[in-house]
Amino acid sequence: MMADILAHKHIILGITGGIAAYKAATLCSRLVQAGATVDVVMTEAAQQFITPLTFQALTHRRIYHDIFDIPDGENIPHISLADQADLLIIAPATTNTLAKLANGLADNLLTTIALATPAPILVAPAMETDMWQHPATQSNMAKLEQWGVTLAGPAEGRLASGAVGRGRMVEPEEILDMARLRLAQAGDLAGCNLVVTAGGTRETIDPVRFISNHSTGKMGYAIAHAARDRGAKVTLISTASLSVPIGVALIPVDSAQQMRDAVMDVVRLADVLIMSAAVADFRPATVAEQKIKKKADSSIGMSIDLVRTPDILADVATYKNQMAQNGDVVCPKVTIGFAAESENLLTNAEGKLKRKNLDMIAANNISASDAGFGVDTNRVTLLMADGKKEELPLMSKRSVAEIILDKVMGLLH
Ligand code: CTP
Repeated sequence: MMADILAHKHIILGITGGIAAYKAATLCSRLVQAGATVDVVMTEAAQQFITPLTFQALTHRRIYHDIFDIPDGENIPHISLADQADLLIIAPATTNTLAKLANGLADNLLTTIALATPAPILVAPAMETDMWQHPATQSNMAKLEQWGVTLAGPAEGRLASGAVGRGRMVEPEEILDMARLRLAQAGDLAGCNLVVTAGGTRETIDPVRFISNHSTGKMGYAIAHAARDRGAKVTLISTASLSVPIGVALIPVDSAQQMRDAVMDVVRLADVLIMSAAVADFRPATVAEQKIKKKADSSIGMSIDLVRTPDILADVATYKNQMAQNGDVVCPKVTIGFAAESENLLTNAEGKLKRKNLDMIAANNISASDAGFGVDTNRVTLLMADGKKEELPLMSKRSVAEIILDKVMGLLH
């Protein structure tokens, strides 16, 4: 099971001289909280905006700024730091520092480390809009991206001058997520194309109403997040409106039919499909064009004719069979379902595992208040196609996601 990808990673946080340097303190704190070892390297200009003491207090480590400051018994910092680093983040990155990087200049400790390190580099530019839009900056950025440097931002918003425009450093949370995305490229699911569905489908009755269920999408989003952090290329097909992790491709859908069409579209290139969505089994036979009005006589009730929706996993199974019969490469290689049950959990889940031709099903007792819909924890039993069974204790949905992905790894190899 994997923890936060930032845990136990050695991050060099380079800070250059811009007002956004104050946000680097939050970024530094969040990196430390995530379990990373953070070494801070400040330029002289950065120290005009924020003191090294702030970062020393946050990291409990010495702060580097002078290339010639080598305490007795220590190695030359630009060599030792550069070698140890898993990632170099420069936030904020001024236009001056970006220009130096793009031209291979090494006139301070930070730019020297940037040249010396084999680690990936992530920059979060911060400057006035005119400086960002200047052809010199744009061509420097293009060059850096071509060399593999990852760019976070800049965002639009209020700038130091008081003007509003592009040039604002992106928020520390976004930089943190970009750092995870960059580090994930070396994860155990790197190169894996994974599709996950999330949320409850909505089946329209009229322009005002729909039929749905209590699913919030949290389990599917936890899987998308965990798979992203392990290097997978993730497509999330979702009815929910939770925040989508950076790097995950979202296909928003509403109904079971829309979800089916989206799944069948992307599954042809997928290695893994995880159907964690709660798909409605029925939809109204007709959708009323205008809002349905109640009768004046309150004793007259109302009924809606329902018809079956497509069974997405059954359609995927049919598609896989066809591929196999034609001698084609079968996609997705691994198919996983969820069984939301309020009784006869394992018997019902086993039936679905076989009927839908799945490699694994996560049986989910939704009658417990700490598992299933809407909460951050879950308690599932994993049933494998080969008859193996694993009952997991109550844990966070993220932890359930990690264990499911461990199983995916096993099934893929
Ligand atoms: N599922 C699907 N298409 C549907 C209904 C469900 O692909 N129309 C998928 C779900 O995403 C889940 C699995 O099938 O991964 C089991 O869903 P569940 O709602 O538990 O079971 P149903 O197939 O709807 O069966 P039942 O109504 O008997 O519980």
